[in-house]
Amino acid sequence: MIQFGPEFDRALLEETLKFAENQVGLFLDKYPGFYPIYTMDGKWKHEGPAWTHWCDGFLPGMMWIFHRRNLENGTGKRYWMDRAIEYSRALEPRQFDREVHDLGFIFLSTHYRWYQFTREPRLNEVLIQAGRTMAQRFMEKGQYLCSFVSPDSIFIDIMMNVAVIFYAARESNDRRLRDIAIRHALTTRRHLVRGDGSTAHEGIFSLETGEFLHQSTHQGYRSDSCWSRGLAWALYGFNSCYEYTRDPRFLETAQRCADYFLTHTNPDGIPAWDFQAPEESRKLLDTSAAAIAASGLLRLCRALPDPIKGLYYYSTAIRILNSLCAKHTAINDPKWEGILKGGVYHVQKNLGVNESVMWGEYFFCEALDNALRHGASQARKSNGK
Ligand code: GLY
Repeated sequence: MIQFGPEFDRALLEETLKFAENQVGLFLDKYPGFYPIYTMDGKWKHEGPAWTHWCDGFLPGMMWIFHRRNLENGTGKRYWMDRAIEYSRALEPRQFDREVHDLGFIFLSTHYRWYQFTREPRLNEVLIQAGRTMAQRFMEKGQYLCSFVSPDSIFIDIMMNVAVIFYAARESNDRRLRDIAIRHALTTRRHLVRGDGSTAHEGIFSLETGEFLHQSTHQGYRSDSCWSRGLAWALYGFNSCYEYTRDPRFLETAQRCADYFLTHTNPDGIPAWDFQAPEESRKLLDTSAAAIAASGLLRLCRALPDPIKGLYYYSTAIRILNSLCAKHTAINDPKWEGILKGGVYHVQKNLGVNESVMWGEYFFCEALDNALRHGASQARKSNGK
């Protein structure tokens, strides 16, 4: 269980975000035009397989975060923007990509952020198309968006990508798209989120009848276990659904997932890679799950009407960030090319185990940025001041 009540250490969070910015700058100089997924022995460029191509938005996504911070601080007006545009624009053909279920990851981190700065209609069109392409994964019989592995499969990770469908529905005034996003989220809630708030990674349906057959996993320990990153995706993703719909069922689900995460995570806020893995294996942590959960909790605490619960989630998010900053970055390891050590991609395939992973880097930066922008005011609001 996470311990409660850490201090908001602005200097530590700022120093870490600065380090992150520096690491990304060094990366761009060393590997121009390269979009990494995970490190091997701390190096981003290697021959290890990707498994699936879902991470390309995270590198430019971080550049957009740095750009906004620099604008607000009045420093380096174009440095990050020019690079962010170059690396985001190169992803545009993927708005039509039907091979992956990850178009939310790719375009909400890039074109959504870009569009907030420039309001160019062309960028919004890319986002709308990405949402329409995602919606083509919808399986009427089972009422779900299928995963990249096969049409009978649903992944918990898809909850992070339904937001691009909600966005496209809103921007193009398309009720059919919105219905697809809602129905997928309700199907996920019914079949992948368990009563105690834990989650299954995958579910399998009958293609013939649409009947739900069983829970399963690729990246978790077992079909009936709770893979911590999947849980963090659910926490964050159901809250996003709530932000778009105000449907209390999604807020309740996000909270149930958050409560499971907080109860089963180590006292410093960094979870084992799977909560039910054998004891020895649970020594392997996943810092990327911690970063995603921290970012999700910082959003969830703002959505909650109850200030006490809001303060609880806010404080645990800060505790997670303090732990990540103090104990898990590469700040004292000049040879390590990533920002956050101790992430995990795919234990079963032995990909990116105890390494830096791109989604860990991105959600860590997003959470640090959110904490620095809203942290103090959130604490005051939650304290009723
Ligand atoms: N494919 C999403 C993940 O590895 O978390």
